[in-house]
Amino acid sequence: MLRITTLGEVMALVSFGESQPKKIKTLLEEVMRQFPQITTLCYCINTKSNDTIYDLDIVVYHGKGYVEELLGEVRFRIGPNSFFQTNTVQATRLYDVVVDFAQLQGHENVYDLYTGIGSIALYVARRCRRVVGIEEIAAAIDDARENAELNGINNAQFYAGDVRHMLTQEFAEQHGRPDLLITDPPRAGMHPDVVRMLLQLESPRIVYVSCNPSTQARDLLLLSEKYEVVKVQPVDMFPHTHHMESVALLQLKKNVTLPIT
Ligand SMILES: C[S@@+](CC[C@H](N)C(=O)[O-])C[C@H]1O[C@@H](n2cnc3c(N)ncnc32)[C@H](O)[C@@H]1O
Repeated sequence: MLRITTLGEVMALVSFGESQPKKIKTLLEEVMRQFPQITTLCYCINTKSNDTIYDLDIVVYHGKGYVEELLGEVRFRIGPNSFFQTNTVQATRLYDVVVDFAQLQGHENVYDLYTGIGSIALYVARRCRRVVGIEEIAAAIDDARENAELNGINNAQFYAGDVRHMLTQEFAEQHGRPDLLITDPPRAGMHPDVVRMLLQLESPRIVYVSCNPSTQARDLLLLSEKYEVVKVQPVDMFPHTHHMESVALLQLKKNVTLPIT
């Protein structure tokens, strides 16, 4: 896996199918010799023969173990095991669409579900009262907290865990009902339990970011019980492929009675 940032840093992560320390060292030394532009070189041993590395230990072979990227005014520290958008230039456009749809005034309590390293949460943090992010990869949450500190942002809180189990009525009581809920799930979309929870929470507005319009459409249909879709904006995050990102703004229907808070 290669990540090249607009600030000129290069992170390479080599995934080996077997633990053969001598051969691994020989190969990594050669990679470093041939590609001196690599600022961080990591590796992992993946004996599962698949492309999932989130459950593996990542060894930092050379460099600081992360790269830095700049989106708008926010600087992000990105570790090898954390999700970060692949297309930085378009990621800025994507987040600008989120900001545009969010129409934040500064007083809002915002939830950012599937926050990764807190990318969207930190991008909107200076435009709202507070933002709470949830993400299942603990290493990404460590990055999110560090990124908040790195940017002097102190109104963002991050929690590690499955959204399905973390986002409960108790969580909402503890953190206050959201004025705006941003959700950016993986390709599979949101679990039906999460959709049900969103219907119970009745955030006045939802911004739904998706890299898979078909699961987004499925979830929007479920949410249509209480929400109407105001607008949808595609963003070409993956040029030269048929994939695209889709951002939808949802508004709570007028005839829905809000709970007394
Ligand atoms: C499409 S990425 C979005 C990340 C972030 N919003 C961004 O723009 O960089 C989806 C994120 O959801 C996380 N994730 C996947 N399933 C999850 C779950 N059940 N609960 C919490 N986070 C989950 C992934 O680890 C990944 O970081």
